[in-house]
Amino acid sequence: MKSSAALYSLLAILPALINAQSPVWGQCGGIGWSGSTSCVSGSVCTELNDYYSQCIPSSAAPPASTSQAPSPSSTPPTTSAPGTSSAPSSTPTSGPTADNPWTGYQVYLSPYYANEVKAGAAAISDATLAAKAASVANIPTFTWFDTINKTGDLGTYLADAQSIQQSTGQKQLVQIVVYDLPDRDCAAKASNGEFSIADNGQANYENYIDQLVAQITKYPDVRVVAVIEPDSLANLVTNLNVQKCANAQTTYLACVNYALKQLSAAGVYSYMDAGHAGWLGWPANLTPAAQLFAQVYKNAGSSPFIKGLATNVANYNALSAASPDPITQGNPNYDEIHYINALGPVLAQQGFPATFIVDQGRSGQQNLRQQWGDWCNIKGAGYGTRPTTNTGSSLIDSIVWVKPGGECDGTSNSSSPRYDSTCSLSDADQPAPEAGTWFQEYFQTLVSKANPPL
Ligand code: GLC
Repeated sequence: MKSSAALYSLLAILPALINAQSPVWGQCGGIGWSGSTSCVSGSVCTELNDYYSQCIPSSAAPPASTSQAPSPSSTPPTTSAPGTSSAPSSTPTSGPTADNPWTGYQVYLSPYYANEVKAGAAAISDATLAAKAASVANIPTFTWFDTINKTGDLGTYLADAQSIQQSTGQKQLVQIVVYDLPDRDCAAKASNGEFSIADNGQANYENYIDQLVAQITKYPDVRVVAVIEPDSLANLVTNLNVQKCANAQTTYLACVNYALKQLSAAGVYSYMDAGHAGWLGWPANLTPAAQLFAQVYKNAGSSPFIKGLATNVANYNALSAASPDPITQGNPNYDEIHYINALGPVLAQQGFPATFIVDQGRSGQQNLRQQWGDWCNIKGAGYGTRPTTNTGSSLIDSIVWVKPGGECDGTSNSSSPRYDSTCSLSDADQPAPEAGTWFQEYFQTLVSKANPPL
């Protein structure tokens, strides 16, 4: 019979499966693990927590005396933290001039966002609310370069920033988000991008980076800070069980490596996106995440322009919550400061002396969600703490607004090719337009619920 034949052939290969050594970054132990407990040569089985041991390349494995044994968490542990193999770049000819890139600089206001906000405010009939809404145009956000055809605009902004600098004597800093990976947003759909790995994606991405760099190098007096590829590396830590992420792993790493090297060579200060407390902040995910970020940093030549990590980008967590939101379900890292305080030392131990920036643009109201993993247009959100370098933590360079509040996270229209069902959950504001487009009703709520108030 078919089924017993299949069973016999499975039994026949079982000893080979059991004896097989786990690959680099594969699992090699932990409570409930019945697979191989030995690793292929060149890697060491390292206990990350009671539930998960992993084959870490010998060169990257921490010394036994300092290895972390974080307590178990209620989320599934990460499946793997991938390695990379690209050669380190040469060190930049000149290093950064500041520990904190914002010190001594004024943040240039994105004209793109200011225009969206002005139009949004003009559409509000209540005069008090309209005035509050208009004031948002003076709060700096990051400008997202989410398609290659926007890269030319960066030159316009840099030229504008340079002329402000020349006329006022006040140094200008332009904040950008680099966001155009091929097969982008591999574990969700709402922000799927323009490039595909199967269709020349890596070369297209390198061209996109080259276009940004070409603009940046024309304006060497204007400082640029970049957030690198929201969600991408975090997806490689926890979502390799998603086929699109597994397929994208090598390309993401090669593209991020290219971006970091080229931007560092152009003197741009970079922060890689590191998800948020409710994602990589689970104790089981912290060490694999730190290992990946440190490896990416080293593969990009350990440039001092790679300052560290950006957290909570486009999310809703508090930097410092008054009390844990019930959805945080016992995670000791229930807000961004706990997450950063937990991650920073592990990164340093891995050889990456990272500092952080934290998005608080939509974190003004708390305890809004049904699940911590909900990310789409959360109902009742308000603008949060204003951008400041007065962060209260030596690990945090600046509180920032990365997600331009009022731009949508994803459409609730189920017939759209980029429809993600997360955007129809009961805590998601609906009807919602396509990701990145203006969502007027949402903007008005952000204004009215702003905390501190506008
Ligand atoms: C989403 C969109 C992107 C937009 C960004 C900022 O990720 O997909 O197009 O630029 O949000 O609003």
